[in-house]
Amino acid sequence: MAEAANRVALITGGASGIGLATAKLLLKSGWRVAVVDRDESTLEPARQELGTAKGVFLSPLDVTDDDAAGRVVAQVVEALGGLDGVVNSAGIAADVHTLDTPVDLFRKILDVNVVGTFIVARAAARIMKDTGGGAIVNLASVSGVRGSKGRSAYGSSKGAVCVLTQVMANDLARFGIRVNAIAPGPVDTPMVQALHAPKDRALWARHLPMRRYGKPDEIASVIEFLLDGTKSSYVTGEIVAVDGGFRGAGIIADD
Ligand code: NAI
Repeated sequence: MAEAANRVALITGGASGIGLATAKLLLKSGWRVAVVDRDESTLEPARQELGTAKGVFLSPLDVTDDDAAGRVVAQVVEALGGLDGVVNSAGIAADVHTLDTPVDLFRKILDVNVVGTFIVARAAARIMKDTGGGAIVNLASVSGVRGSKGRSAYGSSKGAVCVLTQVMANDLARFGIRVNAIAPGPVDTPMVQALHAPKDRALWARHLPMRRYGKPDEIASVIEFLLDGTKSSYVTGEIVAVDGGFRGAGIIADD
């Protein structure tokens, strides 16, 4: 892994929410950061916020496009001088009852959330294995470890991300590559603002011991820890809940 000041991270879905918060935090900590998002229009918020910052590389990348992922990962290495960390934050979500979930929607969510994560992680690992290793952090979800309502497709995709993380951690440990996942609870981002009506927010709050949604920064700081080989060098194959107590809780007092 490169010296602290020269470390390079690639963040998918980096133009919004958790990905953008992570990009900003890593830049503050001295990382060079490649931010990719689905197309030029979705990338635009990152251009606005980070376009002129030093040590930033921006590119459109639809994570479901295998050939493009190989090209963009190579461009990142060329532009920023290496690749030490990857954050797979690109994702899409839906909250639809099982009986009303169209197969096309189910397939689309699996394609972006699982296949896209695999494509980018594999492209990065192919580089990292020859350059001294690195760290990959995948965004799973509490919906990938518990059967929350309306999450047939999304929950299945995130459950798959959890097992993908464990398998890749196992396969890649010998190359010095650590692979972990974060399972966030509800976090106030554009995704959730579009998905959660006030009644959903009230429902979530009743099931969260901390009684509130997380902030993107509260996820980004744990991502940074998992990326940083000086802090989490013996952590791999782990699914870290960052969820205000949701996963661990049983009956919650209603006062
Ligand atoms: P967001 O919607 O704010 O950001 C996701 C980004 O992914 C967007 O910029 C979007 O354009 C990009 N994206 C979508 N499809 C893409 C594709 N095919 N290729 C490249 N980029 C694509 O969402 P948020 O909330 O920041 O979520 C980030 C990750 O965290 C997602 O994987 C999400 O499932 C996961 N997560 C979020 C939670 C939340 O409550 N916000 C809770 C648990 C997990």
